[in-house]
Amino acid sequence: MIKKVGVVGAGMMGAEIALCFAREGYETVLNDISQEIADRGKEKQAAILDKNIKKGRITEEDKTAILNRVTVTGNLEDMADCDLIIEAVLEVFDIKKSVFEKLDAICKESAIIASNTSSISITKLASTVRAERKGKFIGTHFNSPASVMKLVEVIPALLTSEETAEAVTAVLKEIQKEPVRVKDVVGFGLNRIFHAMYLEACRLVEEGVCSAEDVDKICKYGLGHPMGIFALLDITSHDLNLNVDRILFKAYGERFRPSPQIIRLVDSGRLGKKTGAGFYNYEER
Ligand SMILES: NC(=O)c1ccc[n+]([C@@H]2O[C@H](COP(=O)([O-])OP(=O)(O)OC[C@H]3O[C@@H](n4cnc5c(N)ncnc54)[C@H](O)[C@@H]3O)[C@@H](O)[C@H]2O)c1
Repeated sequence: MIKKVGVVGAGMMGAEIALCFAREGYETVLNDISQEIADRGKEKQAAILDKNIKKGRITEEDKTAILNRVTVTGNLEDMADCDLIIEAVLEVFDIKKSVFEKLDAICKESAIIASNTSSISITKLASTVRAERKGKFIGTHFNSPASVMKLVEVIPALLTSEETAEAVTAVLKEIQKEPVRVKDVVGFGLNRIFHAMYLEACRLVEEGVCSAEDVDKICKYGLGHPMGIFALLDITSHDLNLNVDRILFKAYGERFRPSPQIIRLVDSGRLGKKTGAGFYNYEER
């Protein structure tokens, strides 16, 4: 039974993943390379909860109770009594490998270890833990912003037990997520759909069929999307999108060839909303 949840990496994804569990009553441990960086993760959680208070969704008392359930630490040893530990550190195999090796040694035998990787094979990551842990290793791919988006892809590795996949699916439902089981393939499910769609959207603009603004209108008013695909790309940031394109292109070939428009944006430093400009200009708004 999963009662206490650890999250390693208190960055963009980790802080919000930990918040999802704390919000639903789970005792949560949030770790980063130093106490100071881990603390910043909790500050981010507080800022999200403040916005929720302003919108009337929660009270000050709720915020205090939620944050009291989050222990922040620069010490990985504090994961020792967690039942589920989700890794959300940088997308670099060797860094993840070192985290998993340490977790495997620190965590109790019954603990499940999960990775939030977007692009590394879960089976390859599972190879970093001892044979006895391989049945308890799985992928849980949250979407950004993790405190809002309901989808979580659940990705069993080659040797993941059905019991582990079911336990993780159940706890994700408990925290109000919509888990979807997908095979351990490059891009999983979401990124294959998202990138195929946006690369086609880029081709429409490159061929002069319609403008980026009109593509966004097609998405919003024809497909019922809450925002246009180019507006979404500006939020997810083009350097990150291009990295994923390159990984998909390597795995699947021509249908994921990176768009010249995205390459130009990245070369020019227009990485999206975070730099003040991407397809759209945010500084001028
Ligand atoms: N950003 C997204 O939209 C998104 C979406 C889905 C999945 N992911 C995946 O989630 C993971 C994290 O991405 P992010 O965007 O939150 O990155 P990020 O750079 O915002 O955060 C990563 C954090 O990991 C910490 N870290 C690095 N090495 C560590 C270690 N050894 N121990 C503990 N902490 C360590 C860093 O200090 C940093 O705070 C990546 O695998 C990424 O592919 C990202």
